[in-house]
Amino acid sequence: MPSKFIGVLTSGGDCPGLNAAIRAVGKAAHSLDMSVIGFLDGFRGLVENRTIPLGNERLSGILTLGGTILGTSRDKPHRMPVGSAGTMDMTPLAIDNYERLHLDCLVCLGGGGTQKNALRLMKNGLNVVTLPKTIDNDVACTDTSFGFDTAMSIAAEAIDRLHTTADSHHRVIVVEIMGHNVGWLTLGAGVSGGADVILIPEIPYHIDRLAEALIRRSRAGKRFSIVALAEGALSAGEQPHDDQDEDEADDSTVSRSVTLANQLQERIGLETRVTVLGHLQRGGSPTPTDRLLATRLGTKCAELIDKGSFGVMVAVKGDNCAPVPLGEVAGNLKRVPTDHSWIKSARLVGTAFGD
Ligand code: F6P
Repeated sequence: MPSKFIGVLTSGGDCPGLNAAIRAVGKAAHSLDMSVIGFLDGFRGLVENRTIPLGNERLSGILTLGGTILGTSRDKPHRMPVGSAGTMDMTPLAIDNYERLHLDCLVCLGGGGTQKNALRLMKNGLNVVTLPKTIDNDVACTDTSFGFDTAMSIAAEAIDRLHTTADSHHRVIVVEIMGHNVGWLTLGAGVSGGADVILIPEIPYHIDRLAEALIRRSRAGKRFSIVALAEGALSAGEQPHDDQDEDEADDSTVSRSVTLANQLQERIGLETRVTVLGHLQRGGSPTPTDRLLATRLGTKCAELIDKGSFGVMVAVKGDNCAPVPLGEVAGNLKRVPTDHSWIKSARLVGTAFGD
C-alpha cells in the first residue's frame, strides 16, 4: 500500500518543461513510495474525473518532450463553461472527485491563473502544491519559472535570423514577442538577440522618440533596425490592460505590431516588416536549463508532499527550491522593475526603449 496518493494536472497555456516536471514529480513520488495519477486537460479533468495512471512506464521518455502528456485547458473549477448554460461553479464536483480517489494532494502545474485556482481549491479543503510554469516569467515569489528559458532562446534565435534579412534589405523589422502583460520575454530575448529597440509594458513608449532613435541609427550608417515589441507593450497614455488570469488570454493586441510598423514607416520613411512569433515560442523541446529547473522543482514537490507540507508553491530561490505560501503567490504579478539590471545593461549598450 503506497504511503500517499497524488493527482497531477497541467493548466493554462502549455510550455516546454511541463513533461519534465510531470516526470520529476512522478518518479520522485514513486521513490518515496507514493502513487500518482494524472488528470487530463487541466481542472476540467478533475471536475469530469478523467484520469490516467502515471506509472514509471508512462513517465519514461518524456523528459525532452514539448507540450504536456496530460493535455491542458484554461478552464477553472469555479467558472467552467458548460455547453449552452454558460458557466457554472464546478468546485463541488472537483472536491467530490478528489475525495472519491482518496487523494492526499493535488499538484497543479501552471502560471498565475493556475495559482489562483489552486488557492481556491485549498480554501475548499484540498491539499495542494503548485509549481510555477510559464513562458511569461510573471509568477510572483519565484526567481523564475520553467518554460521561460526555452521561449527566450526561441525568440532570441528569431531575432538573430531577422538581423541578416533586415540588413540585406535595409528594413526595420518589428518582431512581436509573447509575454501577456509583462515584458520579461521580450526584454530577455531582445537583450540577448541584440534588438535595437525593446518595447515592454512596464516602459510606455513615445512613438516620436522611437522614430527619432531609429533615424539616429540610420544617420549613423546603420541601414536596418530590429524592434522587439512585447505583445502587451503600451504607448504613453494608453491604459494598461486589466490583470487577467493567464487562463483568460486576450487577443486585443493582435494588430499592435502592424500598427506600430505602419506608424514607423510613415514617420521615418524606411521600409518596415512585421514578424509575429506567436505559439512557436511555446513549442518543441525544453532547453537543458528548463529540463534541470523542472526536475529540481518537481522532485522538491514530491519531497514536500512526503513531509505533509501543503498549501505552497515550490519556488526557485537562487540555487535552492523552497516552498512559498500559495496565498502570497496567487493574485500577484511579477512585472519587470524599471530599474532592473537587464534594462540598465541594455541602455548601456545603446538599446532604445522609446521613453
Ligand atoms: O501565458 C502564456 C501565453 O503564451 C502568453 O504569453 C500569451 O499572451 C498567451 O499565453 C496566449 O494564449 P493562447 O495560447 O490561449 O493563445
